[in-house]
Amino acid sequence: MPQRPYIVGNWKMHGTRAMLSEARAIDRAAQRHMKVEVALAPPYTLIHPVHREAEQIGVGAQDCHHEDGGAHTGDISAAMVADAGAKFVILGHSERRQNHAESDEIVRAKAEAALSAGLRIILCCGESEETRAAGDAVAFVKEQLKASLPADHAVLTNGSANAPERVTIAYEPIWAIGTGNTATVEDIAEMHGEIRALLIELFGEEEGPEIRILYGGSVKPENASQILSTAEVGGALVGGASLTADSLMGIALAAAEADEA
Ligand code: PGA
Repeated sequence: MPQRPYIVGNWKMHGTRAMLSEARAIDRAAQRHMKVEVALAPPYTLIHPVHREAEQIGVGAQDCHHEDGGAHTGDISAAMVADAGAKFVILGHSERRQNHAESDEIVRAKAEAALSAGLRIILCCGESEETRAAGDAVAFVKEQLKASLPADHAVLTNGSANAPERVTIAYEPIWAIGTGNTATVEDIAEMHGEIRALLIELFGEEEGPEIRILYGGSVKPENASQILSTAEVGGALVGGASLTADSLMGIALAAAEADEA
């Protein structure tokens, strides 16, 4: 059965407790839009407070360390974010890959740690402007994804639930993040189609078609309908436009309409 559209807000390094009212507003609005799965990844400091407020939305983390514990000042493990109330974690975001030199190997290790801790993962991939200009975007993204996903199927499903429940992919062209530029519908359709083919190769004919592929990069209520109606787009990972309930739920509404169309 196809999964519901998935709209995930990534608050990045935004939000103090003053933002809890916005999280509450998102949660209340999500209760009126049950056909869409809405989730929020606030900064670590707000995971537990948002978890306590949330009745409907999923709460997640924006990253976690790949080890269970140890001498890693300032880092947080998968078990710790799960303990705070996170049900999922975003991994391999381009801001982590670029600003914290996260390699595909590190992202894969984090994915293994997160899945073992019982978390769902949203694994990000995306090419730079230079890579796209060189015509290498599809090959780059497929390689990045292959190298970042755990190779062992048993790890991916954590022995119990199936892969489409545990794993979501987010395609975010780096040059579209926070810039106001979005990829064309043709480019999104091409990339998502290629990612779908890879997922079928990796997960098989049963699970491969069911894994959701989100698009991310300057998604807002004004462009959401077009993006979310594109083939193989199962939702959106939203940064800037997730900071208010009005704009995030505007995107969720577009997702519901695109799903019904
Ligand atoms: P943006 O961020 O919506 O602000 O472009 C998306 C993301 O980085 O997940």
